[in-house]
Amino acid sequence: MKAHQKAHWGYNLAMMFEQKLITWYEQNRRHMPWREDPLPYHVYLSEIMLQQTQVDTVRAYYARFLKAFPTIKDLANASEDQVLKLWEGLGYYSRGRNLHKAAEDIVARFGAEVPSNKDDLLSLPGIGTYTARAIRAIGFHQKEIAVDGNLIRVYSRLTEDGESNLETMKDHCESYFLKQLQKEDPSAFNQALMDLGEMVCLPKGDPLCSACPFNAICQAHQKGNTASFPTPKKAKEKREESWTVLIFVAGDKVAIEQRPSTGLLASLYQFPLQEGIRSQEEAQKGKFAVQSCVDLGKTAHTFSHLIWHLQGYQIEIEKPFKEPGLLWVKKSDLKKRYSIPSAFAFYKKKLLEPR
Ligand code: ADE
Repeated sequence: MKAHQKAHWGYNLAMMFEQKLITWYEQNRRHMPWREDPLPYHVYLSEIMLQQTQVDTVRAYYARFLKAFPTIKDLANASEDQVLKLWEGLGYYSRGRNLHKAAEDIVARFGAEVPSNKDDLLSLPGIGTYTARAIRAIGFHQKEIAVDGNLIRVYSRLTEDGESNLETMKDHCESYFLKQLQKEDPSAFNQALMDLGEMVCLPKGDPLCSACPFNAICQAHQKGNTASFPTPKKAKEKREESWTVLIFVAGDKVAIEQRPSTGLLASLYQFPLQEGIRSQEEAQKGKFAVQSCVDLGKTAHTFSHLIWHLQGYQIEIEKPFKEPGLLWVKKSDLKKRYSIPSAFAFYKKKLLEPR
């Protein structure tokens, strides 16, 4: 075969690939609110929320967030505390903080419109290569491949690419799918691959190869090797810490404090903590008159890199005492105003909904 014929053959194969993919997508795609009305702001917001969170969890947060901040301008005009309150429970709070900062930037520098230019997008806090590509492909229909874990899994099984370096793997994956994307809409093309990865080419357990439009050309499927691709990551060891959570209650007031402005769960609110797991006697030591102390039990919370083991006590005292950084807030404000990370949800629930 001559070179120009080969190139033509490659082009035809790509056409078949993208047509098959889009046909599958049209018949099987999942409905998501940001897909129904894919304005750049909507795509941007959804992509940030979806970074470390499942689609089904994001739905409710996305709806509440857009209701509170229908436009980038509304988001820019909000306070960081308001934004973080709406983020409560989603985790990885720097996403929310960056989103707010980026909205201020977008208003100041880009006339309150999410920019479509790659460098402009990358100049905004919280937007890295993946998010910039996803916004450009899905929000602006630009020819981009937003390489995420789903695309890597689909690609590495199709071709049996066992590359173990993640950055190299991303490059391989991008150039493979860029070749396949010829005529179709980059927005549908990318989201189709994401859905295929999430719904068919499953990360855990057996993938649903009989439902896959590419089972005839998938190398790993043909050889019964899907479990070996992509090359499994080594599990990182998580550091462990133990904390005692003190829930001081005086009448209808509860004591909380703000975490430091940098590091884990920066600037969020928490109940006062003591290092280590303390006994009930130890927990009650201090310059306050204890009326009762209830053992709220133990729980644990796992972060990406860390495990917290927690022991909580609810300590009823006569009246609020003063300590630097300590805020006495109404129980109802704990619900409405202050963002308490999910790590403390177990105790917050016991406090606000006893039994
Ligand atoms: N994950 C991140 N963005 C997504 C999207 N638009 N559709 C499906 N899964 C996604």
